[in-house]
Amino acid sequence: MSKLDKKQDGPRHVAIIMDGNGRWATQKGRPRIFGHQAGAKRVREIVEACPDNNVKYLTIFAFSTENWKRTQTEVAGLMSLFRRYIIKEAENFMKEGVCVRFIGDRIKLDKKLRKLMDDIEEMTANNTRTNLTIALNYGGRDEVARATKRLAEDVAEGRLNPKDVDEETLPRYLDTYVLPDPDLVIRTSGEARISNFLLWQSAYAEYEFIETLWPDFTPDVFEKVLKGYGTRDRRFGGALV
Ligand code: FPP
Repeated sequence: MSKLDKKQDGPRHVAIIMDGNGRWATQKGRPRIFGHQAGAKRVREIVEACPDNNVKYLTIFAFSTENWKRTQTEVAGLMSLFRRYIIKEAENFMKEGVCVRFIGDRIKLDKKLRKLMDDIEEMTANNTRTNLTIALNYGGRDEVARATKRLAEDVAEGRLNPKDVDEETLPRYLDTYVLPDPDLVIRTSGEARISNFLLWQSAYAEYEFIETLWPDFTPDVFEKVLKGYGTRDRRFGGALV
């Protein structure tokens, strides 16, 4: 069966650009980190809503390679939030059968956070109910550049013949090599741009840009967006039949 013939009811892999935490906090007269904390609570609810909606893979953009430009206070607050999130959610990931993975360049992250990331990946590796991928210090261009470097090393060492480099080869070097491509990319907060997120992987994804700020993105809003996807006709470059 070709992708054209395949009738899909809902997206199997949903990727989310969780935007709007800062504005949400400012509207409430609170510091930006308050919005990120509220955003972290939403992450748990959305992860838990996946199985009932047949979403097997959820990928979330938590920190981009460009986010280091934010104030030192905000960056430190986010890093501390990520550390606390992993510790706090560990038990719930096991209870909910969530397999956790991270994508992005870990080199710039602090040692303590990296250790927590490694440990939670190892601890949840055999869980199969939901696959949660957290993009941390992630940038699509950076990912492709790192992949190309490793590919070039394999060519230089004679492990890969340049003749064999094609669309199937390069993705094997990406951080997402074990994941299917996203079917649907959602961005909250009304901004209609993709901000360097999953550039290669989203070539044929559907996009949904919604006004809701991330801390207000409830499972009900999530379900509504997923229902909208069900009415779309994905053609992967083919013609209407
Ligand atoms: C964008 O909103 C959001 C981020 C850069 C951080 C995303 C992080 C979270 C949702 C926190 C929790 C995540 C995990 C995995 C624990 P913004 O700050 O750019 O909002 P603004 O555009 O309104 O300023």
